[in-house]
Amino acid sequence: MATTLDPASTSPVIKSDLKYQAGFGNHFVSEARPGVLVEGQNSPQKVPYGLYAEQLSGTSFTMPRAENRRTWVYRLRPSAAHNRPFKRIGNRLLRSTPFDEADAPPTQLRWNPFPIPTEPTDFVEGLITMGGNGDASLQTGMAVHIYTANKSMSRKVFYNADGEMMIVPQHGSLRLATELGILEVAPQQIAVIPRGLRFRVELPEGAVRGYICENYGAMFRLPELGPIGANGLANPRDFSTPVAAFEDDRQPYQIIAKFAGNLWALETLASPLDVVAWHGNLAPYKYDLRHFMAIGSISFDHPDPSIFTVLTSPSETHGVANVDFVVFPPRWLVAEHTFRPPWFHRNAMTEFMGLIHGVYDAKAEGFLPGGASLHNSWSAHGPDAATYERATNANLVPQKVDDTMAFMFETRYILRPTRFALESGELQHDYYECWQGLDQRSPSI
Ligand SMILES: [Fe+2]
Repeated sequence: MATTLDPASTSPVIKSDLKYQAGFGNHFVSEARPGVLVEGQNSPQKVPYGLYAEQLSGTSFTMPRAENRRTWVYRLRPSAAHNRPFKRIGNRLLRSTPFDEADAPPTQLRWNPFPIPTEPTDFVEGLITMGGNGDASLQTGMAVHIYTANKSMSRKVFYNADGEMMIVPQHGSLRLATELGILEVAPQQIAVIPRGLRFRVELPEGAVRGYICENYGAMFRLPELGPIGANGLANPRDFSTPVAAFEDDRQPYQIIAKFAGNLWALETLASPLDVVAWHGNLAPYKYDLRHFMAIGSISFDHPDPSIFTVLTSPSETHGVANVDFVVFPPRWLVAEHTFRPPWFHRNAMTEFMGLIHGVYDAKAEGFLPGGASLHNSWSAHGPDAATYERATNANLVPQKVDDTMAFMFETRYILRPTRFALESGELQHDYYECWQGLDQRSPSI
């Protein structure tokens, strides 16, 4: 049994019989039956067991080697074999580019947790788009979704041709059965599903809620470390990719595609999760956020939050992210002579925050697990009045920020909320008032 230990508490994080391969972006090799993979060759004349060879090209054929991602799969039936064309189905609360159905306000926005539906709802049916930017067809920008669900997808798989999906569970665990194997993720872990990969979401513990970053741009990668050195932040060995697992289930299955912003569906005659063996470096992966080795000030001043970057999707402007995934884990605060919580801030980048667990150290109240906040480009934000009062008078002894896990999707583009996000009952219309207790100061000359 594979067991991961929480480095902070030594309590088991997840118990699972699933096997994983360690490393980030490795060239993995996995067989669910021995002898499927032919040594030294991708596309032999006859594949062992009579399987079909198929390549999944995650990047253009000609992408430079360091960024080229592709995987060869050996399956029971080619993906191309289906009996009917795709047909449009309703998008429900899922939205995509262009995000132009409502005016994007510069006001700071915050939402209460979204309720888990009472009607039977699976992962795809329960997707709620909060906002987004860029142009999915031009492979730039991102979208933020909330997922809520209370039933497993049944004889149904989903793929997203528009973007890579980073899934951030907040409540309940997910079993992600993908073409390349099975991953289980629980709150305080994340999973990333490559663009185009087919997967089914099952709910082993019942109802779930969480956040999704749909990344239209360059694939998430580990940030450069610069003077930090060869180790620290998210270490490559702590990323886990599944081993091959296949279904030979000859019953009708529905394949749902998100393509060019809309949902499409077709029926197929057997499970599409039929890959018996694969090799390559385009693969889903998971990561436990409790493995993030946070770095901070050991002298004075509060550093920029970019030190908490787990993964980044670079844009074409050097040093400017299409979207960064940033996490605020438990950590020690020891800096002297300084205001320790995040400072007041106006940012060219846009900050969408969520809270997985506990309390965020810049907000004494109102920012709840499962909730969200949006501080758009140049929208002023910072500690609320209560936090400011407390932190400016605090005795600066070493302090452990514990029992917390907040995160941020930080994007270079204005994030345009959906009409649903702006009109939902979860929007806190009085959020901007949390700074009203900060009174006008009057310096004596
Ligand atoms: Fe900020």
